[in-house]
Amino acid sequence: MQAEFWNERYKQEVFAYGIEANDFLRTQSFPEGSKILCLAEGEGRNGVYLAEQGHDVTCVDYSEEGIRKMTQLAEMKGVVIHPVLADLNEYEFQPNAWDGIVIIFGHLPTALREKVHGQFFKALKSGGKLVLEAYHKSQMEYKTGGPMTETMLYSEEELRSDFHEFEHLEIHQLEREVHEGEFHFGTAAVIQVVAEK
Ligand SMILES: C[S@@+](CC[C@H](N)C(=O)[O-])C[C@H]1O[C@@H](n2cnc3c(N)ncnc32)[C@H](O)[C@@H]1O
Repeated sequence: MQAEFWNERYKQEVFAYGIEANDFLRTQSFPEGSKILCLAEGEGRNGVYLAEQGHDVTCVDYSEEGIRKMTQLAEMKGVVIHPVLADLNEYEFQPNAWDGIVIIFGHLPTALREKVHGQFFKALKSGGKLVLEAYHKSQMEYKTGGPMTETMLYSEEELRSDFHEFEHLEIHQLEREVHEGEFHFGTAAVIQVVAEK
């Protein structure tokens, strides 16, 4: 999928994935005033939520309309975020730069997924935390959101390989109700990752 696809989706007034943060992210916490990088952050619901918790948040997406909507959402909620318009194919991860990396439903094609996920360990500071939720490959059967291309959906094996450098790595595959905007609409197969450097 190209940025144009997401621009069309985000051009609408309504927020495609809602304005509340992802359910799994809401179960996680970061130390006060953490510097957090939210990737493939779309219209900014997760980044804005983290900014509301007092964190210093940078949100990356390659959709201009996503950047416009995240800026609008931050203004609506009275917080500051740092939006970055960038394609993850080219985004440069600074080493030891982040206390947290968050990527929610940021489905990427295989080669790009490996390249991007493979840089999280070095980009995190010591003690830094990664939080990821994505649809699992078995979401193909549920059809309640997410890309309907199996290679864009994730397995535990793939994510274990992507994040093998982390000593503390928890990966859970589960079925849960996902109601996060009109494109995430029901019982779904998800995979959740928490990793600490
Ligand atoms: C399903 S949306 C999730 C948005 C947000 N994380 C959320 O949970 O509401 C996937 C997002 O990934 C972004 N994306 C996909 N490929 C990208 C890439 N190569 N570089 C930057 N952003 C990308 C899209 O623009 C889109 O906003």
